[in-house]
Amino acid sequence: MSAHSGRMFPWLLLALSVCAHPRGRGTSLAVSPVVPPRHMDSVLDILDALESPARGGSPGTAAALGRGLGVCSTPGCRAVLGEPPGHPGRPPALTPGQWQLLTELLRHDPATPELGAVLAPDGSTVALGPLLAGIEAGLRSGGFGRPLPTLNPPADPLLAVTITEALGTSFLLVQGGDNNATALGPGGCWDDVENPQNYTLRGPPSPVPDPVAIGAMDGAVLGAQLARGPLSVAELLRGYYGTRNGSEVGRPPSSYRRRAFRALVGQGQLEKEVAAVLELLRTLSPTSELLRDVGTQEVVAVARRAAREFSERYVECPAIVPRCLWGARPYRGSPALLQPPLGSVFLHHTLEPSQPCRTFGACARDMRNMQRFHQDTRGWDDIGYSFVVGSDGYLYEGRGWHWVGAHTKGYNTQGFGVGIIGNFTGTLPDPDTLALVRDELLPCAVRSGHIRPGFTLRGHRQLVRTDCPGNALFQEIQSWPSFQGTPVALGLR
Ligand SMILES: *[C@@H]1O[C@H](CO)[C@@H](O)[C@H](O)[C@H]1NC(C)=O
Ligand SMILES: *[C@@H]1O[C@H](CO)[C@@H](O)[C@H](O)[C@H]1NC(C)=O
Ligand SMILES: *[C@@H]1O[C@H](CO)[C@@H](O)[C@H](O)[C@H]1NC(C)=O
Ligand SMILES: *[C@@H]1O[C@H](CO)[C@@H](O)[C@H](O)[C@H]1NC(C)=O
Repeated sequence: MSAHSGRMFPWLLLALSVCAHPRGRGTSLAVSPVVPPRHMDSVLDILDALESPARGGSPGTAAALGRGLGVCSTPGCRAVLGEPPGHPGRPPALTPGQWQLLTELLRHDPATPELGAVLAPDGSTVALGPLLAGIEAGLRSGGFGRPLPTLNPPADPLLAVTITEALGTSFLLVQGGDNNATALGPGGCWDDVENPQNYTLRGPPSPVPDPVAIGAMDGAVLGAQLARGPLSVAELLRGYYGTRNGSEVGRPPSSYRRRAFRALVGQGQLEKEVAAVLELLRTLSPTSELLRDVGTQEVVAVARRAAREFSERYVECPAIVPRCLWGARPYRGSPALLQPPLGSVFLHHTLEPSQPCRTFGACARDMRNMQRFHQDTRGWDDIGYSFVVGSDGYLYEGRGWHWVGAHTKGYNTQGFGVGIIGNFTGTLPDPDTLALVRDELLPCAVRSGHIRPGFTLRGHRQLVRTDCPGNALFQEIQSWPSFQGTPVALGLR
């Protein structure tokens, strides 16, 4: 018990040292400025204004400003990037509304992580703090600005400022805590994806809620890119996230962040780097207190658990867009619970819409249309599928893991129904979309206990008189390891 309180105390100190930063708000303004939506596009506009050479800006301007506003307030990050400059005043290039948004986004208050996040065009929610810290570390290791110090004991500076310090401290605190606190998550919902103003987490925040994990992954990926050669930060981010102004035809690179992060740092290296950063924190104040009773073996165990749980949740398993984000109507009636683990997965194509969707906006619209059709025309309680697969790199939550769906008449309690958006009679989904289901969704569902290890995959047509999931797709899944060709009555019982 005393060991626990001994560990919780520095956590408070840590939080306080971070909260004590002067704030840009609270000045009494007669008229409150018009604050732009909390969307990545607003951030890109701000970066454009700050970096514009005509107004005295350069690629490092935003990162330097971010430091002054509270990015990188933790001991490990300060050891890498140095002590922050004093609180800056509003640069003339920004409107008062832009300035208010930026100060709110970068203030880093662990008690209100919601305020630090923006909605990106791919539908993900990104904390700006770890993103900017990664950008500064990348620029500086690429030779732009002051060189980074050599850390002793050694640790990778880019990973330290983005992900490893956050993971290490979070898992250390959970391990020492005496409640059921979790070290990762949760995710959340926006009030309005067209005009996002208010983000709400769907549960008590851990030190690494989803937007912080996502922002840290993006910060590491983009920082590594900047280290290879400095370019305009605004241009880099625009290329990576895309914009939502309707010009997109396909997936932006941000929808591949899991793959890009995995290529940058595998689970083994992540584990090594979390351990390294914890050893670094042992030498720093106030985190030396946090690590006082923690031996080297324990550090290794914490790092292993952190790397494993982070990789499972954010790298190996696919992101699932929750109902609140695609604008689902409520379920009608009373849902019935499934009894996991289930033994079957039934694969469908949607047929209508017949075109695969390649952006968050298009896929979310398809989801709303299908739900309306299933509820209003078919008279069902909800969209029929358990999950729907977009060609934008994301899965969309239908009835989800817990509730009986309406996808495969007669078999809805026995399996999950997964529908890929499109008409796959004559053509196949693209290889990334097939891989998302075959290599990520299905193995992850086994590991998480939603389906049995020996589960079988079938096409809709094997159970019900229909062409679904289309000739081309049905042909394709016959080569998947879990495919079961035997007649249903034998196979299911
Ligand atoms: C932790 O979880 C268990 C089981 O879910 C519950 O019984 C217990 O009350 C929880 N403890 C705290 C401190 O929340
Ligand atoms: C944001 O949404 C939450 C939950 O819906 C609500 O409690 C809160 O008052 C909202 N905040 C603002 C500033 O609108
Ligand atoms: C969308 O934004 C990009 C990047 O700012 C810009 O180049 C393009 O012209 C915009 N398209 C539309 C239709 O506004
Ligand atoms: C689906 O594709 C097939 C073959 O490409 C075509 O004949 C059929 O009309 C399409 N159906 C719909 C509803 O788009």
